[in-house]
Amino acid sequence: MMEDRLQHSITPLLLRWFRANARELPWRKTRDPYAIWVSEIMLQQTQVKTVIPFWERWMSELPDITSLAQAPSEKIHKLWEGLGYYTRVRNMQKAAQVILEKHGGIFPNEFESVLSLPGIGRYTAGAICSIAYNQPTPLLDGNVIRVLTRVYGISENPRDKNTNARLWALAEELVKDASQIECGRRPANRRETFPHCSYLNQSLMELGALICTPRQTKCDECPIQQHCSAFRENRVHALPNLGERVATTDRRFVAFIVEQKGKFFVQQRPEGVVNAHLWEFPNFEITGKLAGAVSHFSKISKKPVCRIKHSITRYRISLEVFRAEIADKEGVPGHWMTRVELEKLAFPSAHRKILRHLDPVAAMLD
Ligand code: ADE
Repeated sequence: MMEDRLQHSITPLLLRWFRANARELPWRKTRDPYAIWVSEIMLQQTQVKTVIPFWERWMSELPDITSLAQAPSEKIHKLWEGLGYYTRVRNMQKAAQVILEKHGGIFPNEFESVLSLPGIGRYTAGAICSIAYNQPTPLLDGNVIRVLTRVYGISENPRDKNTNARLWALAEELVKDASQIECGRRPANRRETFPHCSYLNQSLMELGALICTPRQTKCDECPIQQHCSAFRENRVHALPNLGERVATTDRRFVAFIVEQKGKFFVQQRPEGVVNAHLWEFPNFEITGKLAGAVSHFSKISKKPVCRIKHSITRYRISLEVFRAEIADKEGVPGHWMTRVELEKLAFPSAHRKILRHLDPVAAMLD
């Protein structure tokens, strides 16, 4: 009940704040569910400012569901190169194909149908239905969890089943509340119609991104400061309570640049492994068994060409890169490619960095 009263007063404040403070983002200029879907998938795990050029390029190369459904695998991987978590892009293509087959190429507008598409979970379905169709479907991501745990003073770990369910319920109450707000006191013919469900959900995410941040919060600029339990109790930085962080693991790899007559030796990663379908230089994790695998390579340079550091999920990866030759060509499957051909392939970020070291001038600028 307490939560009920609180929520009624914060909904209009959030909507007003969002109208005045929302960032101008390219996907906010459209209500096309396809364009919004692309943005939402890209924004999972990646910051807004990184996503913008990726989204622009994607929308100009693959402007609709049909073009995505029919695109070659190399093209979708290349457009995603640098965003990581490539299962996302393959699922998007599968979903586009389902939309063509089952929905006549029209993006479905029923929550359950959206949710049943490959790669679309409760968050993404909620985002698409609220932002594209203005339906009162809730969403919960890291930003929204931070805002809600602070406003409502929720000290339990948001990953716990019951607490998570409570947060979803709160998010749902807020967006339902927004759907019931009238459009203001202006005369009917001068009434601007704002999509309240869309704006309410986006206001929570935007507040989490701009004001209610993990550190250095801007509580002084917060439109709902007076309604915030954590602010009142001076424990903003204690929430959300995410429990113990998983420990990071160091992993060391070596990679070889093998060049012959202007061509480079590269391999494509198989289906079913991390970074499947992407290309890479031959490489090995430094574990006890390294000697056997490396025996296919000879004339390994004494000095590394470069050392690359890369963090992904809980892994801190270091990759040491050497020039080498292949001792036994039959023993190692791969392809020989020119520098220009390499440019067209999709590489995991760490290997994309190796490519820069093939161009002496670009490498000097690193
Ligand atoms: N993060 C993911 N989607 C977003 C959106 N529509 N607005 C703000 N932040 C977001």
